Formats: sequence, structure tokens, C-alpha cells
Amino acid sequence: MKGRVFSGARPTGRQHLGNYLGAVQNYVALQEGYETIYCVVDLHALTTLTGTELLVQNTFDMVLDWLAAGMDPKRSIIFVQSHVPAVSELHVILSMMTPMSWLTRVTTFKEKVQQQPENVNYLLLGYPVLMTADITLYKADTVPVGEDQLPHLELAREVVRRFNNRFGPVLVEPQAKLTEFPRVLGLDGVQKMSKSLDNHIELAADPETTSKRVMQMVTDVSRVYRRDPGHPEVCNVFSLHKQFSPDEAEAIAADCRAAALGCVECKRRLAASLNAWLAPFRERRARFEADPDYVWDVLADGAKRAAAIAYPNLEEIKRAVGLPVSRVLA
Ligand code: TRP
Repeated sequence: MKGRVFSGARPTGRQHLGNYLGAVQNYVALQEGYETIYCVVDLHALTTLTGTELLVQNTFDMVLDWLAAGMDPKRSIIFVQSHVPAVSELHVILSMMTPMSWLTRVTTFKEKVQQQPENVNYLLLGYPVLMTADITLYKADTVPVGEDQLPHLELAREVVRRFNNRFGPVLVEPQAKLTEFPRVLGLDGVQKMSKSLDNHIELAADPETTSKRVMQMVTDVSRVYRRDPGHPEVCNVFSLHKQFSPDEAEAIAADCRAAALGCVECKRRLAASLNAWLAPFRERRARFEADPDYVWDVLADGAKRAAAIAYPNLEEIKRAVGLPVSRVLA
């Protein structure tokens, strides 16, 4: 039997190379060989947002990028988390199976408290429980995530084990599946690529903007003069060459080490290969963008298919817990 993949992403709008290499590329590849479910986790987003006015637009923009990158609504269920409210119910049930102490020790929670001391809200703590509800509602066994999500996955597994010990083997224990490209650095070559740090390269940007961003990238910092030999293995520009200029990468590395290739020219070449690689993506994206109804229909259809899996599972879980299941539903 095919495994079932579930992954979620907060609606952050237009996606960047870090999102693509760290997540979306993998989502697309997993459509081969798995049943795949991809979710825009709008409820999770509420835990960190100060304003919600961009939520709808950001959902649309992210899904556009997903579709343009090759996510196929015929093969994958693509939907918005809040469109299948069963997840909120399951979250409530699982929250009572989760000791507080498990949540307060989660490293990402502690980081969030540091990052937003003025907004330490209730669901910031419950965040991984809602995530556990996402995954278990669909009985997914495989969860593609970045390294930063591993503590959440570990918590999910503990909650599942605890639940199953008490109520029988109802929930499926999920496995994390790390991407091959787990950490994509930003233009600074130090911090993770992220929109909030403004060190990112957008997939949907025009070719000029893309080139400009690439030319701002920090290369091997130990290479001070043009005549100094470079170290491609520690250079962020080279790590992208490996991805986007695979045929040239070996020659680029050799020329860099021999100081035959300077950093400026090296970046010019990266901009060229990146723009060539992005051209068909931009074309597909423009076609979807011109037809917003199509995108929202994809999400409506996704929610319908997701609900068809979610509600029977929720009923089974409620029965296992011992809740009096409604006759109206039975
Ligand atoms: N917490 C994830 C993130 O911030 C998003 C997410 C929510 C998720 N639910 C999920 C990821 C379920 C995997 C599975 O990136």
C-alpha cells in the first residue's frame, strides 16, 4: 500500500528559493509513490501574525507558486486548514492527552517567547498539538519537513504513542522525512533564507530583480582579493550552482579554487542559470495568476477530498476515546 504524506506550510505569500529547495521541491517529488496531502495552515499562522489583512492574498500567492512548481491537484489534495474544521476538534481532544510539561519544554516554543514576548498566546504553546491533529486526522505516516520542525514531529509521535496506549491503536505514528537540502542560506550566507530577514530570492520575481539579488550574495568570506583561491565547499553561491547549474558546477568549482574565476563573474553565471531555470516556472505561474477562480476551485476541491478522509477518522477517534457519538452523525 502507498504511504500517505501530509505536510503543512504557513501562508507566507510568494515563495523563495529557500521554500522551494527546503520544501516545495520535495512536495512535488513525493507525488510519485505516495498519496500526498498539502495544507495551507492558516490557523497556525494566527499564532504569530500581528495583522491578518494579508492572509487571503498570501494563501493565494503561495498556492500559485506550489502549482507553478509542479504540485498537481489531480495527484495531491491541496487545501486550506480551516476549510476542514475537524482538525480543530481533534486538536481539542489531543490537547487533553498532552501534558503541559511536554509543551513548555519544546525549543521552538521557547524561541517564540523570546521573539514575540508581547504575544505569548495560548496556541503558541498548543502549536505542535494542532500540528499533531493535522497529521493524525489524515493518518499520514510520512511528514516532509525541515530540520526546524523535528522537535514538533517528536512531540507528535509521543502524543500518538500516549493516545494509542490508552485507547488502542487508532492513530498512526508519523515519520519525519528530511529534505536533502535542509538549510538554505540567505544572501548574507549566514542566516537561513527568510522573507522576514529580507535575505531571500523570490521564485516569482522578474529576471532583473533576480539578477540584482544574486549579485548581492556574500561569497566565500576568506577570499579577499580576486587572485585569492576560493573555497566552493563553503560558498553559498556555489551551493546554488550545484542546484541550478549542475552541468557547469564541476568546472566552476575548479576555476574558483584556481582563482581563474572571480566571485562577480561566478554570480553573473548563477544569475543566468537561475533565470533560465525560472523561466518556465514564471510562465506557468502567470497562467495560473490570470485565472484566480481556478486556484480557489483547486482549494475547494481539495477541502472536499480532505473532509472525506477527515470526518470518518474523527468519528473513529471519538469512539475510541469514549465520547458519546451523535446519532445524527452515525
Ligand atoms: N509547523 C510547520 C511550519 O511552521 C507547519 C505545519 C503545520 C506542518 N502543520 C503541519 C508541517 C503538519 C508538517 C505537518 O513549518
